[in-house]
Amino acid sequence: MIKNGDYWMRAVRFLDAARSWSVHDIRFSEEVIVLDENMTTPNRTFRELSDVSRAVASNHLLIDWSENSEQWSFHQYSIYVSNMAFRLGPTVARLRLGLELLKNNFESDFQELIDAFEHNISDEAGNGDAKKSHAHLFLKSSRTYSVGVYGFEFQRTSPLDTTATLHAESMKIFSSNPYVMLGATVAQETHALPQLEHMFKGASRKRDIFSDEQWHDVSHFYDVHLDGTELRHAEDLNDIVWSLLNTREKENKFNDGFDSFIELQSGYWAGLASAVLDRKP
Ligand SMILES: [Fe+2]
Ligand SMILES: [Fe+2]
Repeated sequence: MIKNGDYWMRAVRFLDAARSWSVHDIRFSEEVIVLDENMTTPNRTFRELSDVSRAVASNHLLIDWSENSEQWSFHQYSIYVSNMAFRLGPTVARLRLGLELLKNNFESDFQELIDAFEHNISDEAGNGDAKKSHAHLFLKSSRTYSVGVYGFEFQRTSPLDTTATLHAESMKIFSSNPYVMLGATVAQETHALPQLEHMFKGASRKRDIFSDEQWHDVSHFYDVHLDGTELRHAEDLNDIVWSLLNTREKENKFNDGFDSFIELQSGYWAGLASAVLDRKP
């Protein structure tokens, strides 16, 4: 999908998109045009990468869910949330592998990054309370939604092949090379926010059938991310990573990691779309 190192073409497409944005963004786009002289400018790159992630998160499956969730059958919902659980559950495991990799290949400028990983892992693990771990909150949210809408807890299905591939390959990436892992982490964290926004929008279409207490159980998983936490995960990385990419080799590795993770995510969404949306209710 994306050719490694094809950043110049991406920048051109990005500038085209930037020209059509709102007044606030026009100011930004002028800034981008000036900075275009210098292709390694951090903010341009981060904005560009976020743009790629947002496009991948705005996929066929999540758009259908966010706009037509009330049309989805129990089986469609079950496949969707089962595969999402397989994907979201190991987030903390991926980050722990990444942290280990940073510690095992320690360089003096990694400390701030290590702190950001530890903070992110702590968020994911519920800051010491297993019942507040994000994996646990997602299951609770999905169960409550399923019982409210369909009358039963969702049925756990086996992971699709594309889901299993995403998991296996991303565990390899997160234990490979610190700079490849860093690119993948930026892909993961910039994709998370738009993904969660679509997921929450779909669930919210049924807000009216839930009591406030039940809705708290459905929405809490989203609340703990959309309150700025998820944005912080991405912005912490934006503040730290660019100064670390101080050689062409490191930059290439970072780009490889980002592209690989984006491609795995695209494959995951395509697999899920065909399993869920091709299925008759
Ligand atoms: Fe999370
Ligand atoms: Fe995150």
